[in-house]
Amino acid sequence: MIKVGIVGSSGYAGGEALRILLQHRDVEVSVVTSKKYAGKQVFKVHTNLKGFTDLKYSDKSPLDVASEVDVMFLAVPHGESVKITPKILEQGTRVVDMSADFRLKNPEDYPKWYGWEHTAPDLLSKFTYGLAEIHREELKSAKNIASPGCTACCSIYGLAPFAKAGMLNGTAIIDVKTGSSASGSSVSLASNFSEHANSVRIYKPWGHRHIAEIEQELSYVSGKKQKATMSAHSVNMVRGILATSSFFTEEEIVEAKVWGAMRAMYKDEPFVRYIMDKSGVFRYPDPKIVAGSNFVDIGFEYDKHANRMISISAIDNLIKGAAGNAVQSMNIMMGFKETEGLMQAPFHPM
Ligand SMILES: NC(=O)c1ccc[n+]([C@@H]2O[C@H](COP(=O)([O-])OP(=O)(O)OC[C@H]3O[C@@H](n4cnc5c(N)ncnc54)[C@H](OP(=O)(O)O)[C@@H]3O)[C@@H](O)[C@H]2O)c1
Repeated sequence: MIKVGIVGSSGYAGGEALRILLQHRDVEVSVVTSKKYAGKQVFKVHTNLKGFTDLKYSDKSPLDVASEVDVMFLAVPHGESVKITPKILEQGTRVVDMSADFRLKNPEDYPKWYGWEHTAPDLLSKFTYGLAEIHREELKSAKNIASPGCTACCSIYGLAPFAKAGMLNGTAIIDVKTGSSASGSSVSLASNFSEHANSVRIYKPWGHRHIAEIEQELSYVSGKKQKATMSAHSVNMVRGILATSSFFTEEEIVEAKVWGAMRAMYKDEPFVRYIMDKSGVFRYPDPKIVAGSNFVDIGFEYDKHANRMISISAIDNLIKGAAGNAVQSMNIMMGFKETEGLMQAPFHPM
């Protein structure tokens, strides 16, 4: 049994990490911090957890928390984690960071994609990108984990099999549709119900910062430099991401070759499902049927008319896109059963 602390646990990603870890057999969540809610019971913020914990939010500094636990989950905004992580690592406490601050291997990508210079570039190599389906072997000996971005991992899941099989030659074109929880719990005019409900809002036609990690990971699996472009839309749902990713090919790709690529990448993966059917309502992946779970659903089609390969992937952004992936990676790092705490079936209907 290990002790875990969560910083930023009043937010959405930290709240989901807490929910999952409270039901994890090898973990005791001993400290959860919040500046805003210090002294208040957790269920005052995450009412869904009433009856599951008596924990109160602490105003302890991350450094004090680090001295009491084996693993720290950081669920704070990007740019904040890098301020506290160096001191935590000095104490020898392991970090599972859900922000973007340690995901990118090349420090020069931070000014390019995030607009700030990385202040601890030497620590980037001390983090393993927390995507078990690509980095399982490295995670077994990892000390710290950088958990992927939500739109990034959803896109990577759809494209990685093609990259690995050498079929992705040319720029990958990604369309993502995300639910409102992807932008966190802080409020703005754009997240106001009257402004958000019933809209399909393109918030980043190009230049989404998750491109950096998508290109990093697709290049890693293919062994050559990959390029991607993404258009991101916020749609009328709370949870979930649908990524429709495509690329053009010189020659027709037959279905058997795609199945071969999928199997080479995802054979025996506990959280990857193929959703492709000739009939029924949910013939392709849909965020609605992964909600509440750590599954990623994947489907594909080939457009013979335009020689375009189309891959469709869906996740729950707060679970496979955040807390679930973080716990799955921690399980591997700590030598626990990989699926511990994570094997819930999705909700339906929702
Ligand atoms: N939402 C998603 O789908 C998702 C998916 C993948 C990754 N992530 C990443 O997870 C992290 C948290 O995202 P979120 O969506 O949960 O955001 P959120 O709901 O806004 O929560 C962020 C939490 O961080 C704390 N916080 C804010 N400013 C802080 C600071 N300066 N120092 C320390 N703590 C601070 C806040 O807690 P107190 O003010 O109460 O202390 C807040 O509860 C972000 O880095 C995000 O990019 C989110």
